[in-house]
Amino acid sequence: MKIGVIGPGAIGCLFGALFSRAGHEVWVLDHRPERAQLLDRQGILGHDPNGQDWRAQVRATAEAVRIGPVPLALLCVKSAAVAEAVAAARPMLGNKTLVVALQNGLGHHPVLDAALPFWALGITSQGANISGPGHLIRGGQGPTLLGFLAPAPDWAWARLTETVAMLSQAGLPAELSPDIRAAAWNKLIVNAGINALTALENCPNGELLKRPAALALMTEATQEAARVARQSGVSINADPLAMTMAVCRATAANRSSMLQDVRSGRPTEVEAINGEVVRRGQELGIATPANELLLARVLALRA
Ligand code: PAF
Repeated sequence: MKIGVIGPGAIGCLFGALFSRAGHEVWVLDHRPERAQLLDRQGILGHDPNGQDWRAQVRATAEAVRIGPVPLALLCVKSAAVAEAVAAARPMLGNKTLVVALQNGLGHHPVLDAALPFWALGITSQGANISGPGHLIRGGQGPTLLGFLAPAPDWAWARLTETVAMLSQAGLPAELSPDIRAAAWNKLIVNAGINALTALENCPNGELLKRPAALALMTEATQEAARVARQSGVSINADPLAMTMAVCRATAANRSSMLQDVRSGRPTEVEAINGEVVRRGQELGIATPANELLLARVLALRA
């Protein structure tokens, strides 16, 4: 299948490279023309946790018109860049293009609702870091859940089902989720409890469990996020703190996406994660002081 990957970050490079290695025609859309040229020449250079190095050939460009309409487009930019990325990707989006959005956080969902007639949500537990343009370091592996938050046409469901099979064949275990909203909230709770703290503590995920003050803030932040989710009618995991601590252990050596963003001077997803808990908490009259604190402290890192 001809697959468009919008954004060559860690998740874009991971999914693009594995689809390419499985025999699909992968086109990466990158807003930076020089990096696109480099990726087009060099491909994606991968490093597996077992020490194995490999290379995957992809096509890359900064001009979506060169790609043209694709049956499947994976939106892999950060939450804050979604509106701009969808606008730039328009020439790739035909009448029958399925867009799968793979961001952390929930803050960009209304942006996607306004920009597209429908779109699928992907919640991935794959760990990946980027050490340079197209240089992918794979981390812990976990399932990718896919589904629609709103009604979608039959052909889009069929394409999503096909995507699940293609991902699994490519080495990225995937499933259709019976409740993708709950999956999105479970991931949001985990991200609310881990990402900002790792950025502030400047440490890998597993280290948070060894730092009592960080663990106390994680406990508060996950419980607040869980309260907001439950009050919104979402059937989240029964023990959100245990779930978050389990992810810390499973991805102990990972540097979270937010820590990587802070280290590289990029904008973070804190507004789409902790900020979204605060915003929805305000709407529901639920106090969220821990998330407010994390939001303010991470924003202050860039001030
Ligand atoms: O954003 C991330 O880095 C990941 O979602 C997670 C699960 C925190 C692992 O590092």
